[in-house]
Order: sequence, then C-alpha cells, then structure tokens
Amino acid sequence: MSISAHAAPARPSAAMPRFASVAELIDKERPSLPVYALFPPAFKAAAKHFLDGFPGETMYAVKANHALPVVDHVHGAGIRHFDVASLAEVKLARERYPDAGLHFMAPVRIRGAAGEAHKKYGVRNFALDSEDELNTILRETGGDTDKTIAAALTLFVRLYVPADGALLELSSKFGIGTTAAAQLLRKIVQAGAKPALTFHVGSQCLHPKSYKTALARCAEVLQQARVELEALDVGGGFPGYYLNVTVPPLTEFFDAIREGLADLNLPKRAPVYCEPGRALVADGLSVITRVSLRRDYTVFINDGIYGSLNEYALQNWPVRYPLRIFSEGPDGKIVEKTGRVAPFKAFGPTCDTLDVLHYPIDLPETIGVGDWIEFQKLGAYSCALRTAFNGFYPDTFVEIVEAR
Ligand SMILES: Cc1ncc(COP(=O)(O)O)c(C=O)c1O
Repeated sequence: MSISAHAAPARPSAAMPRFASVAELIDKERPSLPVYALFPPAFKAAAKHFLDGFPGETMYAVKANHALPVVDHVHGAGIRHFDVASLAEVKLARERYPDAGLHFMAPVRIRGAAGEAHKKYGVRNFALDSEDELNTILRETGGDTDKTIAAALTLFVRLYVPADGALLELSSKFGIGTTAAAQLLRKIVQAGAKPALTFHVGSQCLHPKSYKTALARCAEVLQQARVELEALDVGGGFPGYYLNVTVPPLTEFFDAIREGLADLNLPKRAPVYCEPGRALVADGLSVITRVSLRRDYTVFINDGIYGSLNEYALQNWPVRYPLRIFSEGPDGKIVEKTGRVAPFKAFGPTCDTLDVLHYPIDLPETIGVGDWIEFQKLGAYSCALRTAFNGFYPDTFVEIVEAR
C-alpha cells in the first residue's frame, strides 16, 4: 500500500505576473489579500554565496519554503541537492527535478516513508538517530535481506550538538551523544550500508564557531567508532541578515567549517554537504500586507501568525524584518510613506485573539486604513507555515524585477 504524498500547489514561475517594483505591483493591483513578492536576483545571490564559498555540496532544505516558485528559483540558481524531510517533499523534488540528489534528513519518519522514498523515488540517503530507525530503513528498503540494496544506502547518524550559538535550537528533539553515535555508526557498517554523520547547530546561528565545535564532536565520534565516514553533512542553521541581530558574514561560517574539516581527515571520496533552508530563501521574498483598520496604536492587517508572519510568534526572537509602507497619495499615485515611526501592535485577520504579532512593529505615525505594509526578507518559514485557519490562506505569488 502506498502512503500518500501531498504535493505543494503547482504554480510554475513562467506564468507568474511580473512588476518592475513593489510600488508598481501595488499601483496596478491594489491588493487586498496578502501577496508574496519574489526577487529573483536575491535567490541567485544567496545560492552563489554557498556555491562559491561552501567547501562541499549545498542542498536546499525544502521545508524552509516549499512553494514551487521559490524552489524553482533555488534550483534555477544552481542548487542541485535537496534535503527533503517528508514524503511530500521527496515527491515534489523528484518529480520537478528528476536528476536532483535527494537526502531524506528527518531522523524519524512516518512508517512506510523510507520504503516508498527508496522504491518509488530512488532515495538512497537517510538520516537517523536510533537503532530502531536503522532497522526500519533496512526493512522497508529491503536492505535487511539484500546486501546490494544495503550497500547503496548512505545513512547519516544525527549527532547531538550544543545549540548555544543559535536563536532556535534544534537539538532537544533529534540527535544522540557521541558514544551512542559511535555505536550506531558501527551497526550501520555491520549492516553493510555506508556510515555518515550529520548535525544541526540550530536555526539562525550567529556564531561560526558552533560549526567548528560540532565538527570537533564528530572527530570524537570517529575516534570511538573507528569507522571511515562515507559522507558528512554539517546541516543548516546559516543565518538570515535581518534587523536587530548582529551576524558575521557567511564567509566566516565557511572558514570555521573548513577549519573543523581539516581536523577530521575525511577520506577524499567522502562528500561534504550543508543543508541551509533560511539562508537560501530569506532575502528572496516579501509579504505585501494591507491595513484593514487602525485603532490608536493598533493596526489590524490581512496576514498574521496563522499565515505568513508566524516567526512573530516565536519566543525570544530578537529578529526584526525590514518594513516598507506604501500608501495612495492624493493624486491616486502610490507613494512610499516615511516619517516619524512609533511601535504598533498588529493583529492578524482571524477572529482569534491569539492572532497578534508578539512583537510591536515600527510604523509611520500616519499609517492608516488601506495602506500596505511590505514585510521584507520573509522567504523562510513564512508561506511554509501558513494555515487555512478561519478561511485565510495567502497564495498569490508575483515577481519583482527591481534589485534589492
Ligand atoms: C534536518 C534539518 N536540516 C536543515 C534545516 C534548515 O535549517 P535552517 O533553515 O536553519 O538552515 C532544518 C530546519 O528545521 C532541519 O531540521
């Protein structure tokens, strides 16, 4: 029996409306519903940083934004490997980019997913952090009884690493300690599969050193395991360049990784991967929202935490996104509204009181009903997390030609 994989809505970027600028989009469309404005050069620039600077292959973590126009831009910018963490993402990537390298990097999968990913979509790379999952992968793929199937599997043990350099930790759910990781690597070798290691330093990592520390931990595992790694994946976590957070340039992250790798002595044949989500897509998308009501220093807008603005609901999230405000001038022309700003409370469009941005946003004192607020740098974890709660589901994509 096949377990179903729901594809993301199909929306090829070729058919996408194009505008010279956000102001032109607003002028022509006067959108009342949220619009996702894509900036193709920003996707290209982000991919180029990784393709030029990362010492290995770069995958895109599809979960950061699975909207097809976005994934198409990432692919179009030269990224040919994908971290896919559900059967739906496997299906999306395989059907859209038949030659892409796919890595199923969720360490715990829905029952049957590893088997279907392997048999139907040709996936050979899987993450895991338990012997149970190893047995599941082997059983579902047939690698438990067929040694040639096992030999073609690369199995990445997810190592626990401290997440103290990142704003969002990803270490309390997945990842095992060095001794357990060493044992699991040996079990993988005994099963006839290729042993590999992976970790995730946490999302929006601000400290390049975190990668070096994590790689030193990989070295400890290898000392204990006494196996030769066949691949290594340093995960995602590379930061977005938002407001209100100080972030070193990406080159410092790549340098730290280079230094960590130098101490690992990997065999030359072993590929090194990274799997950024946020850093590849954050800059490429703005969410254009509209003010439905202003009441004193509170605005009601047409998108919120159940839609594209869910990162405004994260706890202890100092990140702020750059905003631009547009308004219809007296002559009907769309102009950017500037001037003295003040902090405003912002409610989303649903009837739920919880639908409020947890952090005030700075808006011009003169903001009013009908004005548009562009939330910039929201390519990561925005559309990916939107819900249809209360009948609101933003789903309009356009392209903007202007450089950012
Ligand atoms: C296994 C894995 N890889 C990559 C990513 C992408 O992380 P980021 O967007 O911080 O680069 C995540 C995020 O949840 C993840 O869980």
